[in-house]
This record gives sequence, structure tokens and C-alpha cells, in this order.
Amino acid sequence: MGAPLHKFKSKLPLLPPSIFANMTQLAEQYNAINISQGFPNFEPDPILLELVAKALKSGYNQYAPMGGIYSLREVISEKIESLYGKTYNPSSEICITVGATQAIFTAISAFVWPGDEVIVFKPAYDCYEPAIIANGGQPILIQMEGKDYAINWKSFRAHIGAKTRMVIINTPHNPSGKVFSNDDMLQLQECLKGTNIILLSDEVYEHIVFKGNSHESASKYPYLAERSFVCASFGKTFHATGWKMGYCAAPATLMKEFLKIHEFNVFCVNHPFQVALAEYLKTAYNYLSLGSFYEKKRDLFLDRISSSKFSFTPTQGTYFQLLDYSNISNESDLEFGKRLVEEHRLACIPISVFNKDHLDHRQIRVCFAKTEETIIQATEILSSL
Ligand SMILES: Cc1ncc(COP(=O)(O)O)c(C=O)c1O
Repeated sequence: MGAPLHKFKSKLPLLPPSIFANMTQLAEQYNAINISQGFPNFEPDPILLELVAKALKSGYNQYAPMGGIYSLREVISEKIESLYGKTYNPSSEICITVGATQAIFTAISAFVWPGDEVIVFKPAYDCYEPAIIANGGQPILIQMEGKDYAINWKSFRAHIGAKTRMVIINTPHNPSGKVFSNDDMLQLQECLKGTNIILLSDEVYEHIVFKGNSHESASKYPYLAERSFVCASFGKTFHATGWKMGYCAAPATLMKEFLKIHEFNVFCVNHPFQVALAEYLKTAYNYLSLGSFYEKKRDLFLDRISSSKFSFTPTQGTYFQLLDYSNISNESDLEFGKRLVEEHRLACIPISVFNKDHLDHRQIRVCFAKTEETIIQATEILSSL
């Protein structure tokens, strides 16, 4: 026997299998209703589909400019200015990306050096930590507190040190649905002021915010904006997660470094979809109506389980709702989630997989970005437990 053909050291040796892949596979195996993964089971606006079809037939089928087509960056800049009062230069401060995921990975690759620390609040969406580790950084995990996932800013401040290179926040927050308050953002700003720390603000659910809450973008806060990458997703906003289209905005000096990685990672992003999105974004209603669209779905979902044994606080934003099942079972959330699929044909996500040290509050996450029919079927099952 010779030496093994492929000798290498994995950059992500401890990566657990994705809970989304697991749950989706289980859902298929048991022919279950799948409200686990965060994507709509309905189509985007036909007007947007028409704009894509038109762009495809109008000759936009070769490489786009590296950072994105100007008309799309311009309309994004106008949108941010009108919503959050911050002006980004379309040419030097906005980049179109392959979904928010690429924006996040690229920002981390551009700034995180081996040995650097990156603060991540748990529970956290699953793409942050692998990106930090693959770039040699060390994730510093801070658990949000209690079943409502409050942030203890005093403890946050205590975690900042000489090695802290970046902080990642996500508001509205997946999986908890928490929307960071003005006070949260002011406290964060106070902690970061005068430091050399970069803020990566994942705001993919910025338009899915419900009555009584407002989206507090990092771009609204001058001492945050000056150090921030604000990341967004057209997939989430326009019911088109399969397109993998997104963008990020940052001050020119930071964006210059970001683009050096972007250029040799993807170079540029799907051209005809950019042309269509540039046109569609001109109508502000297309994104401003999203909150009330999903609020109706949230309310339908919660009304229909109001007399069930689940307890819950209505989610403030995102299309996720947490449900506490401690009145139903003492099982761990992993066991409960598995049994829900196998015995009741309903797939949800156990929250412990997102938490630090797999902290288990006996909560599951459901996604209500579903048709009325699916919501009715899912809530019937939940009410029967
Ligand atoms: C918090 C969060 N960030 C980023 C993403 C990825 O966004 P995209 O599909 O645009 O890459 C998701 C997708 O579920 C998410 O929930």
C-alpha cells in the first residue's frame, strides 16, 4: 500500500451535519409537512418574474460589472437613505453579492486574520462560525439570555479585548425573532466607539418587522455605520431564496478591501437578475408591504394554536416563531423535534442546535412563510398535541 492519495488537514474538522439538511431529509422520509427551513412555499411576484424573463431576452447574459450594475446599486443607495438616513456612494460603497451568505463570508475573509477573535451572539444562524474558523479566527460565543433572548451588554463589553477584530449581529434575529431595540443599538455603539472593531450586521429580515417594533439598521447609527458591513438578501425580501441574490453596504475604505476578495471569489453576480431587481426596487411598496404581508401569516398561525398547549410570545420580526413545548413534554428539543416528524408528520427546528453549548429551553422554531393551506395543516397538528 502506498501513501494515501489525499493527505490534508480539514479546515472545518468539527462541523456538525446541518440541522436543516437533517430535518428536510426526515420530512421527506416521513412525508411530513415541512415548516423547518426558512423559505416560502409560494412564488415571487409575477411582475418580478416577468422582469427577469425580459432581462434574459434583452441581452443581459454576459458578465456584469464587478461590484454590480450601477442602476441596482443606485436604487439600493436611495432605499437605504430614505429608510435609515445614511448615504452610501453606489460606486464605492455598495456591492451586489451571491445572497447575504457570500457578503458575510467575504467580509470575514477580508478582515479576519488567524488568531483574531470574532464575537457571535448565540443562538446564531449557522454560516458565521464556519466562515470565522475557515479563516483562522476564533468565534467568541455569547449566549443571549433567557427564553426571550435578551442581550446583556455589560457581559458583551467584558468579552471585548485586544484580539477582537469583529462583532456579528443579526437583527431581526433568526431564530428568536427578536428585533434589536434602539437601546440595544445605542449600547452596542457605546461599546464599539473608539475601537478598531468591525461590525458585521446581518439584516436579511430588515423588511419583516411587526407592529410595535422598528428595524434599527446599523446604518442609522453614525459610530456603527462607520465600521459596519450591512448585509441584505433579495431572496428573503422577494420570496426568491433560490436566486441567491443579496448585497452589502459599507464605508469606501472597508468596501475597497471587501472587493479585493469579492473580485477573486465570484468576480460578479448574475446579470439579468440584477437588471430585473433594479427595476422592481423602484417601487418601494414591493418591500415596504412585506411586514404586513407576514404579520397576517404570523397572526393566522398564532390564532390557530391559541388554545393549544404551546406557550409563546408573538415574534417581533422575521418569518420564524418560537414555541415552548414544556407543557407537553419533558423530552429534549432534539427528541421532541424527531418525534414530531416521525409520529405527527411535522418538521420543525429544535433551538438547542443554535445555542451555546446546546442550551435547551424546550423550544422549537417554526417558519410561517407558508401558504394558508400549509399553515392550517401545520397548526392542526400542533393543536392536537
Ligand atoms: C440570519 C440569516 N442570515 C443570512 C441568511 C442567508 O441569506 P441568503 O440566502 O441571502 O444567502 C439567512 C438564511 O436563512 C439567515 O436566516
